[in-house]
Amino acid sequence: MPSKKTKTSGTPLGIIGGSSLARLENLEVMRRRGLTTPYGKLSSPLAVGTMAGRQVIFLARHGEGHAIPPHEVNYRANIWALRAQEVKTVVAVATVGGIRADLEPGTLVVPDQIIDYTHGRKATFFGTDKRGARHIDFTHPYCEDLRGLLLEAAAEANIPALAGGTYAATQGPRLETAAEIDRLERDGADMVGMTGMPEAVLARELGLCYATLAVVVNHAAGRGTSTHAISHAGIAEISRGAIARACRILDQVVMRYGG
Ligand code: HPA
Repeated sequence: MPSKKTKTSGTPLGIIGGSSLARLENLEVMRRRGLTTPYGKLSSPLAVGTMAGRQVIFLARHGEGHAIPPHEVNYRANIWALRAQEVKTVVAVATVGGIRADLEPGTLVVPDQIIDYTHGRKATFFGTDKRGARHIDFTHPYCEDLRGLLLEAAAEANIPALAGGTYAATQGPRLETAAEIDRLERDGADMVGMTGMPEAVLARELGLCYATLAVVVNHAAGRGTSTHAISHAGIAEISRGAIARACRILDQVVMRYGG
């Protein structure tokens, strides 16, 4: 698989936290930067600080009070702001529903493909403005170097994380029907979430090395424990343990990151 080489040393590591991850416990925050961007307001001020002595910039995708639903996240402002702070590498943490049978709630996965089912989101920096239209390569949507780093970090932390899988990005904010999940499975999707796109493509457009650590917090609609309905209480309970494990992986990523 081709590797998207991106210079990673000497720059802060960007981390985007999703549902249940509005702040990083081990980040020593030095300042909060609420930037104005050409694309409007970020989800939350950037938390700029250090973790294990390394520079890290954290952004809460849904805002600090989790008030912003997936279809209203200003993905362009978020990615632009990270880039404007010299971030070249971004780890995105995202909760998902498991479609593939082995993606049980609590599983951590580093996906390698995406199918985009979202609509009406501002999904490019290139348009009719002065940047003009551009058709970037997105064959392999995630940065292979960073996927490798995430998997190495998981092994180092002794936390199982599965390598590969296709992330289906749905529009939300509602969860899917059982028939929609059957269709996503026929399409080849292994997991389903609402925020993977356009975040990944916008990162690619700005030349960032971007990869996702997906946290399975429920069986997708119609499957397993979600046969009759998806339980929000169940999601909350699984999230607690699984997000804590994801954070231990992030600690290792930061320590191994060249920045
Ligand atoms: N569907 C879509 N997004 C999600 C899910 C789901 O089942 N679980 C967590 N995010």
